[in-house]
Amino acid sequence: MRSFAGRDILSLKDFERHEFFRVFDVADKLRPFAYNRQNTDLLQHKTLVTAFYQPSTRTRLAHEAAMHRLGGHVTGFSDAKMTRAGDFYQESIKDTVKMLEFYGDVIVMRHFQQGAPHEAAKWASIPIINGGDGWGEHPTQILTDLYTVLQEKGRIDGLKWVAVGDMRMRTMHSLAYALTQFDCPITFVAPPDMSLKPEFKEELKQYSLNFKEAEHIEQCIADADVILVEPVVQPDYTKSRDERSGDAGLTPANYKITRELLSTKAKSDAILLHSLPRMDEIPADVDITRWSRYWQEAFNGVVVRMSLLALILGAME
Ligand code: CP
Repeated sequence: MRSFAGRDILSLKDFERHEFFRVFDVADKLRPFAYNRQNTDLLQHKTLVTAFYQPSTRTRLAHEAAMHRLGGHVTGFSDAKMTRAGDFYQESIKDTVKMLEFYGDVIVMRHFQQGAPHEAAKWASIPIINGGDGWGEHPTQILTDLYTVLQEKGRIDGLKWVAVGDMRMRTMHSLAYALTQFDCPITFVAPPDMSLKPEFKEELKQYSLNFKEAEHIEQCIADADVILVEPVVQPDYTKSRDERSGDAGLTPANYKITRELLSTKAKSDAILLHSLPRMDEIPADVDITRWSRYWQEAFNGVVVRMSLLALILGAME
């Protein structure tokens, strides 16, 4: 088995089946610290650097919380405008990470350019974790989602998935790559202008992913054990910041999960995931139904980042 120590986490395309389970085993071991709101000293001599060139609530703070739970330290930036990368100099990724590598032991990077964390990994002597790159990938989010499925359903293999939303989303790419390692048929539901790209579909076929596409969630929700939702009312992920001007628009019924839809069409033991933030694709009255698992997903986001940091920094093998 490849060691995680010193390894970059850039894509789930790199992940082998047993490596998912290794991350989840370590997450199980570290979970009690997060659950009991306790800190340990496992990474007391290590520092996490957060390099966020795009807004984030969950990914940055879950990594930071994970590092604190493991007794480590955190430094970094949450707005590149306050660094030389975001002012007159437009400092390059290379020059920036050639500095950051001396400030800590692992870097988590979010960037509006697809491939930016890969570029950072070329130059940094410390591991890089991809915290979301443009429309590229979001590996730690999907590790969190799979861990949530394992926690909630007791298994991953044999479950049927539906993924609803904008298929250009980085989470959707990481999800599709991840499911190639499991026995999990999936149906993708997206607006035509946000559907899976032909070249990506070709790649998924080569990896033997069992997938199909549907136009309306009502066509496939009845079969689903796991319903994963992302917005279709979206910002532009290739921008460093996309402010909302005026009315953002509403989610069409095809891509919306309502309480009525769940109670009339979904399996009674299906689970509903959303990486958040959301628009109106899951109304707030769904939160209290038995299907919703997005708050558990948020908690697991800390636990999975604890596992990854412990593995990458060699504290767990
Ligand atoms: N799920 C997720 O990536 O959220 P943030 O954009 O808040 O990090």
